[in-house]
Amino acid sequence: MKHHHESGPIKLSRRHQLWIYSISVSLVVSGVGWLVAHYFLAGAGEFGDAPHYSEPWWLKLHGALAMAFLVVFGALLPAHAFRAWRLNKNRYSGALMMSMAFILIISAYGLYYAGGDVLRDWLGLIHWITGLAAVAGLVLHIWMGKRNRTRVGHQLQHRHINQKHANHKRNG
Ligand code: HEM
Ligand code: HEM
Repeated sequence: MKHHHESGPIKLSRRHQLWIYSISVSLVVSGVGWLVAHYFLAGAGEFGDAPHYSEPWWLKLHGALAMAFLVVFGALLPAHAFRAWRLNKNRYSGALMMSMAFILIISAYGLYYAGGDVLRDWLGLIHWITGLAAVAGLVLHIWMGKRNRTRVGHQLQHRHINQKHANHKRNG
């Protein structure tokens, strides 16, 4: 069965790229904002450490951005991820990206509903460490994607040159 997204470039449109980049950056910034407020800005309150007033605001911002991220992430699955996978392009770092997204989404769900404090703390830790690692993951993924593309380009070029040599020998 042929789907309409089976042709056309795997490279995202300029517009989709901008959405992915701007939402990803904001998502990380809002997560790091919470981390800073939580671990560095908590003040001494009357009854022990009081959370910084900005904590809930970082989370509200983060939650909103997470939903926006899921939209642009979903839009990237058919024409980008699934198709590149089938064409065997950039699979290693692509699988890494998908795994990280999976861990982030599952742990985020857990953060909403996990009851126990211990489980919640673990989920939080897994979530933000994966979140920070995903920055490096995305940079790696883009770099490898670009590199593979130029390598395929070079291979094609070589094949072309070899072909020319062969023709030359045959004719000369
Ligand atoms: C969370 C999932 C993913 C995200 C956020 C993501 C994002 C990106 C971004 C931003 C680029 C650079 C811009 C571009 O070239 O379009 C890129 C390139 C690329 N990605 Fe992904 N990607 C994901 C999953 C995958 C998967 C699963 C595969 C394949 C198995 C894949 C294959 C590629 C390839 C082949 C390129 C190079 C495209 C080119 O330059 O022609 N990606 N990706
Ligand atoms: C797929 C992408 C992501 C989704 C869907 C997501 C979603 C969520 C959700 C739903 C929460 C719980 C909010 C609450 O308790 O009200 C959360 C918390 C958090 N997220 Fe994310 N997030 C994502 C990526 C990231 C990234 C990239 C970072 C970067 C550091 C990050 C850092 C955090 C932190 C620090 C918290 C607070 C943890 C805690 O309460 O212990 N998240 N996220």
